[in-house]
Amino acid sequence: MIHKVTLIPGDGIGPEVAEAACAVVEASGCQVEWEVVEAGEGALAKYGTTLPNRVIDSIRENGVALKGPVTTPIGEGFRSVNVSLRQWLDLYANVRPVASLAGIQSRYEKVDLVIFRENTEDLYAGIERRVDADTAESIKKITRRASERIARAAFNFAREEGRKKVTAGHKANIMKLSDGLFLECARKAAAEFPEITYEEVIVDALCMRLVLNPLDFDVLLLPNLYGDILSDLCAGLVGGLGVVPGANLGDKVAVFEPVHGSAPQIAGRDLANPTAMILSAAMLLRHIGETEAAGRIEEGTRAVLAAGIAVTPDLGGKTGTRGMAAAIIAEMERSLAHAGAR
Ligand code: NAI
Repeated sequence: MIHKVTLIPGDGIGPEVAEAACAVVEASGCQVEWEVVEAGEGALAKYGTTLPNRVIDSIRENGVALKGPVTTPIGEGFRSVNVSLRQWLDLYANVRPVASLAGIQSRYEKVDLVIFRENTEDLYAGIERRVDADTAESIKKITRRASERIARAAFNFAREEGRKKVTAGHKANIMKLSDGLFLECARKAAAEFPEITYEEVIVDALCMRLVLNPLDFDVLLLPNLYGDILSDLCAGLVGGLGVVPGANLGDKVAVFEPVHGSAPQIAGRDLANPTAMILSAAMLLRHIGETEAAGRIEEGTRAVLAAGIAVTPDLGGKTGTRGMAAAIIAEMERSLAHAGAR
């Protein structure tokens, strides 16, 4: 079966890691026809908008997309493509599995947690106004609908994956109404999943506990902005932004993308670590039922990381993006040949 999948290469290092991921998917044996569409800075120059309608239409038609990072200027300029995409397609759950990988130097071994970040509202929605020359304000909007569905998604996932605990991060001691409503919804969902332990931790203390003992955590349930910040913190626990994949899930469509950004400083130099994008592609394949191909990609990637030789400079190696992808493909081919010989 051939799967039609939207591919948004993105900006900065996006096209390089996208090329690596496509090559690895091809080697996995899964047949994918990529429909390439442009979003971000590149699209702005060509189409006068960072998010052409074609992008939304393509994802709606195909149901799934693999997306590279896109650049968002700070302070002024165009609106974030990511925020718009998540809102347009109602991609309400941002799911980020953070797991230790053998071969990667980090402070901890055996970290294995999954972040469920609400993806459509909160301060992150960017509803802001300049009140006068010296004052600006942002609106933190939290709704029952969005909070209930992300909470239920986190608990459902915990139940399906046999996970034991969901921890909600919040600041309801200060933002009693907005974060208070988020917690109210989390508690309601928790009551429907009595076999799963539920705890609430104030987000600043949560940061400290994650740094001190990440093994204490299983599934993290977070409003949008805290989820954004804690995702990078958690990526730091397992070797950095180059290795953490992610998914934006809605009821009808799903967009898979690495946690990292477009890293303009290293763009176009064959230095970007393709792991996060490759593992995002594996998550996509799993989502469309191609479990074996996804497993092959994950195993090949893990083997290359564990050997620690053909890895990019952020992981202490000297290999380029393309070289690392080639090593993963070679590893996948080796293990296929080995399985065939048995
Ligand atoms: P960033 O993730 O691009 O970079 C942070 C640091 O991590 C840099 O030192 C970078 O070189 C390094 N890094 C990131 N990915 C890497 C990889 N695959 N391999 C090796 N090193 C890697 O975050 P930053 O600098 O805050 O943002 C840059 C741009 O990316 C901004 O315009 C931002 O808005 C955008 N961005 C886009 C995202 C998306 O499209 N999903 C997510 C985060 C940021």
